[in-house]
Amino acid sequence: MPSNSAPNTTSDSTSDKRKILVTSALPYANGSIHIGHLVEYIQTDIWVRFQKMRGHSCHYVCADDTHGTPIMLRAEQEGITPEALIERVHGEHFQDFSDFAIEFDNYHSTHSEENRELSQDLYRRLDKAGLIAKRTIEQLYDPEKEMFLSDRFIKGGCPKCKAEEQYGDSCEVCGATYAPTDLIKPYSALSGATPVTKESEHHFFKLGECEAFLKEWLNREGNAAPLQLEAANKMAEWFDAGLRDWDISRDAPYFGFEIPDAPGKFLYVWLDAPIGYIASFKNLCDREGLDFDSYWQPGSDAELYHFIGKDILYFHALFWPATLQYAGYRTPTRICVHGFLTVDGQKMSKSRGTFIMARTYLEHLNPEYLRYYFAAKLSDRVEDIDLNLEDFTARVNSNLVGKYINIASRSAGFISKRFDGQLAATFDDDGATLVSAIQAQAAQIATLYEARQFSEAMREIMALADQANEYVSDKAPWVMAKQEGAEAQLHCVCTAIINAFRVLTIYLKPVLPKLAAEVETFLNVAPLQWSDVDGLLTDHAINPYKHLMKRIEQKQIDAMLEASAATLVQPKPSPARHGEAQQKKSKPEKSETTIPENGAGSSMNDETDNTIQFDDFAKVDLRIARIVKADHVDGADKLLQLTLDIGEAKTRNVFAGIKSAYSPEQLEGKLTVMVANLAPRKMRFGISEGMVLAAGPGGKALWLLEPHEGAQPGMKVK
Ligand code: MSP
Ligand code: ZN
Repeated sequence: MPSNSAPNTTSDSTSDKRKILVTSALPYANGSIHIGHLVEYIQTDIWVRFQKMRGHSCHYVCADDTHGTPIMLRAEQEGITPEALIERVHGEHFQDFSDFAIEFDNYHSTHSEENRELSQDLYRRLDKAGLIAKRTIEQLYDPEKEMFLSDRFIKGGCPKCKAEEQYGDSCEVCGATYAPTDLIKPYSALSGATPVTKESEHHFFKLGECEAFLKEWLNREGNAAPLQLEAANKMAEWFDAGLRDWDISRDAPYFGFEIPDAPGKFLYVWLDAPIGYIASFKNLCDREGLDFDSYWQPGSDAELYHFIGKDILYFHALFWPATLQYAGYRTPTRICVHGFLTVDGQKMSKSRGTFIMARTYLEHLNPEYLRYYFAAKLSDRVEDIDLNLEDFTARVNSNLVGKYINIASRSAGFISKRFDGQLAATFDDDGATLVSAIQAQAAQIATLYEARQFSEAMREIMALADQANEYVSDKAPWVMAKQEGAEAQLHCVCTAIINAFRVLTIYLKPVLPKLAAEVETFLNVAPLQWSDVDGLLTDHAINPYKHLMKRIEQKQIDAMLEASAATLVQPKPSPARHGEAQQKKSKPEKSETTIPENGAGSSMNDETDNTIQFDDFAKVDLRIARIVKADHVDGADKLLQLTLDIGEAKTRNVFAGIKSAYSPEQLEGKLTVMVANLAPRKMRFGISEGMVLAAGPGGKALWLLEPHEGAQPGMKVK
């Protein structure tokens, strides 16, 4: 497959040192890293570590993607500034990646001075090149929140099948796509207000004018092809459909960078996000004295690789090369696209506990198990990969521990006990044959790593481990150890085994860097490079062997799934509220549940004057309510649907976020307190006509208020 092989790799020598810059997509700063993300970052990290071991100059940069409406709203919901939110998340992301041994040369932020300068400059260059158009468009506007609404923030009835509560762009029930203005009774998902149409001038990038260039870029011959076949085919479809101008501006309020000379207009997050790759590298250059221009000027001899998931191909294969080209930058060498992760054959699911956060995984399992498993599944194709938990346990236990680790553990003891930790000067003949057979695969395995055919590489390596284990079984050092006069032979055999293990460790090091470091300590050698394959470890003192890796036990997997299911109903970590400027202009966001998340109620503590007058209190109509019925809500992770009797002719329907703490059976027949005059709120599942009161931080620690005996439904609480 010519389009999938790498440039400049026809020779196996590391003497022609390549200059390589690698990126992974920038994770959004409003969510935690989960194992789906890790497919990408682990894949990239393996490739980068391989390049570094080969002696190339390789830099791996990334950053948090910090701009846009969802991040702005999330911060508002937490009662903190976007800056405070992105700083906290940056720390969390970086820690998660580090703990998975994902080693960036720089982990920056798109909300940085470098990125502001580069983004605004790039905009100016595109403008100068005549590629920015300005047009007035009509858009839906939330008069209450005073902001324009993108499709995802507008809901209403599907114009086709009439299903309620559908998003502004497509119907989840019948699959119809439409404009948000087509919705029946559209409302703002932010405030519930009915949106109005409003005009605004937008800035567009004229993508259509870049078509000839894009086709030329895509069709670079042979080794220079920038995309896998599947991705290239997708591009062809987009060309056929016609390239439309790209709306790159957003109106205030927006968390992002202002467009030069256009007050109140901001660059759309997807314009400044990939520029974040350049900004992160710029930041690294300034710190380490690297020559920035030599990487980014047209005609640069550096190679530029972007690893991304298939969902963001459009941005990286169309907009990104086009904006780079017309702003006077070099274009990417290759976009490496991967598929999505499924768990046990299905989309990751919160209720099944398979929506596993990086942190939750780390609390139960060794990160290198997952690195190995992903490596054993990843190829250069765009197809999805499945984490089958049974297969995960089996493969790690039988291949990694049973085959590879086993080689060392079956011979190391003899070296330390019988030969004082000293390796012999030679191998026996079979041992020599084995070690050179393993060494002989170096070029082949390197080619597979280079081509991102990691699963093939793992297969080859495990086949070599099989050979080594056969040798161990044939020679049976434990038998030799008991034979008289077999001392020298035992020494040679064990030395050969340790050498076989050493070469296999080099092959696995891009995947298992932490384990490899422990092996280096055990072997008493400097950090292993790819070129060390050819060396032999003889007449050399090694350190006592400590067990390197344990098997996975089923109970660890069970505990992780259980913890995953549990974490997802708990409130997000409460942000540091003190000292943060409050962003809120008016009232706080209505949260999806009637119980405030994040202990949001506690934000009152910060307000200097939080005393209210009795009249204010009296406005709240609190009533005793009997829970006549409690039900699960299909498709809602946190909610229970309550039918409440408050002494009126009609019962009230209330959705309460208390599912993590109560089952419906526990509630039916009980009395509680409800806010009876809260404006009804339209939710995805129906209309909520009030709220019930509860205390506690959330999750299992949540307690519904219950009056003393004698209180009757409908009684006013005052
Ligand atoms: N912020 C954008 C990328 C901007 S790049 C200039 C974004 N962020 S993301 O957090 O949603 O995703 C980051 C990367 O993780 C993307 O490449 C995405 O495809 C990948 N994945 C997110 N979920 C994934 C799976 N479940 N499986 C595999 N990869 C996934 O997109
Ligand atoms: Zn529909």
